[in-house]
Amino acid sequence: MSTKTEPIPGISDIYPADIPEWRFVENAARQTFSRYGYHEIRPPILERTDVFSRSIGDDTDIVQKEMYTFKDRGGRSLTLRPEGTAGVLRALANEGIPEGDERRVFYIGPMFRGERPAAGRKRQFHQIGVECVGKTAPAIDAECIAMGMDYLNTIGIESTTLLLNSRGTLKDRRQISTVLTHYFQDHIDSMCADCQRRLITNVWRILDCKNDQCRPVVDDSPAITDQLDSDSRGYFDSVCTILDNLGIQYKLDPRLVRGLDYYVHTVFEITSTGAGAQNAIVGGGRYNVQLPGQKRSIDGVGFALGVERLLMCRSGAGQRSEPDAAADIYIVSHGQRAMNENLILAAELRKNDFSVLMDLEGRGMKAQMRNANKCNVTFALIRGDDELDKGLVVCKHMTDANQIEIPVAELAGKLKQLLADE
Ligand code: HAM
Repeated sequence: MSTKTEPIPGISDIYPADIPEWRFVENAARQTFSRYGYHEIRPPILERTDVFSRSIGDDTDIVQKEMYTFKDRGGRSLTLRPEGTAGVLRALANEGIPEGDERRVFYIGPMFRGERPAAGRKRQFHQIGVECVGKTAPAIDAECIAMGMDYLNTIGIESTTLLLNSRGTLKDRRQISTVLTHYFQDHIDSMCADCQRRLITNVWRILDCKNDQCRPVVDDSPAITDQLDSDSRGYFDSVCTILDNLGIQYKLDPRLVRGLDYYVHTVFEITSTGAGAQNAIVGGGRYNVQLPGQKRSIDGVGFALGVERLLMCRSGAGQRSEPDAAADIYIVSHGQRAMNENLILAAELRKNDFSVLMDLEGRGMKAQMRNANKCNVTFALIRGDDELDKGLVVCKHMTDANQIEIPVAELAGKLKQLLADE
């Protein structure tokens, strides 16, 4: 039974105790990607609907069933981003990418899809994504995949499988569509209603059908890679050779098409048993995207990692970041005059980089000491009228209860020393 204080299904609160894990995977991404020349970009969460529908594809599950789309007060159709690529490309196109230039960007943030919630499948989830935009070459695709693997190793996710395929070019697509249509026409009666519609609207989408009833037919369908022309085949072979040279293992999956229509050439997914039933932790590939209102289509390659699924893998393997450190100091005030002076002392200590808590409600000494204990601080600093008159602070170690007096003028230096000795 949900209560009014719970978020809506498929959307989770992320509490302070979990933040160190989030910060760890985010910071590792920043560090890894910057070693490959990527820079952070922060596109908006809300976009005009056609930014997504045109690029992801009108007949994909995302556009058909999963987008959170609504009309704003001006009657414009807006959508909460279901993925990062389309918005990033719009932002880069808005800034202008001169012909022949390359842009390398990464992004971190929430995405929204109205899917049926399950473990590892959420309605608000978070992606860490990268896009290398402007140029096309097999080595760019291979380097991008290698960077994804490098990142997973950095954050300690090891039991992974890299699935690899090529969708060929837009030209190959016509030929492949014909072959697939012929094949599925003969089996369509045993397939789900969605696939029966897809046979007419977009036969490629049948390959991505998750329905058990359709899987045997899909698994026996003609391999896409067998239909590629020699240029596309050569492109894909080069990607594979470079991955071989880099020592990156992969499994060819000739029916992998991915759930977004913008892909050309290389497509890949990385799965991990640690993520449970929703085992795809990374999805990506090369794309050619035509944005609304743009004359030129945009070429690029990229991937996105699902942060919730990464965290499931880490937690399943017993990996957890250190919790945030408690504050260093709790200042205990005996009387109103001391409290006023201690507010100034707290400000001084914070300027010197100490994390400082203090009672702000004028409670009794015992209650303040209890609170200092509960807050897990290392030292309590105690001052009343007597200490103020003598220019001293009593410094009490919270675990061994040792107490020393420190002149206020020497406090910052002495505390640094004491904390370093901890
Ligand atoms: P995607 O495969 O749709 O690709 O999503 C990438 C990753 O996001 C998935 O592998 C998964 O880990 C995570 N993910 C997707 N949906 C959910 C969900 N409902 N709950 C939790 N995690 C989820 C894209 O989004 C492409 N934009 C990737 C890309 C970038 N391709 C080229 N550049």
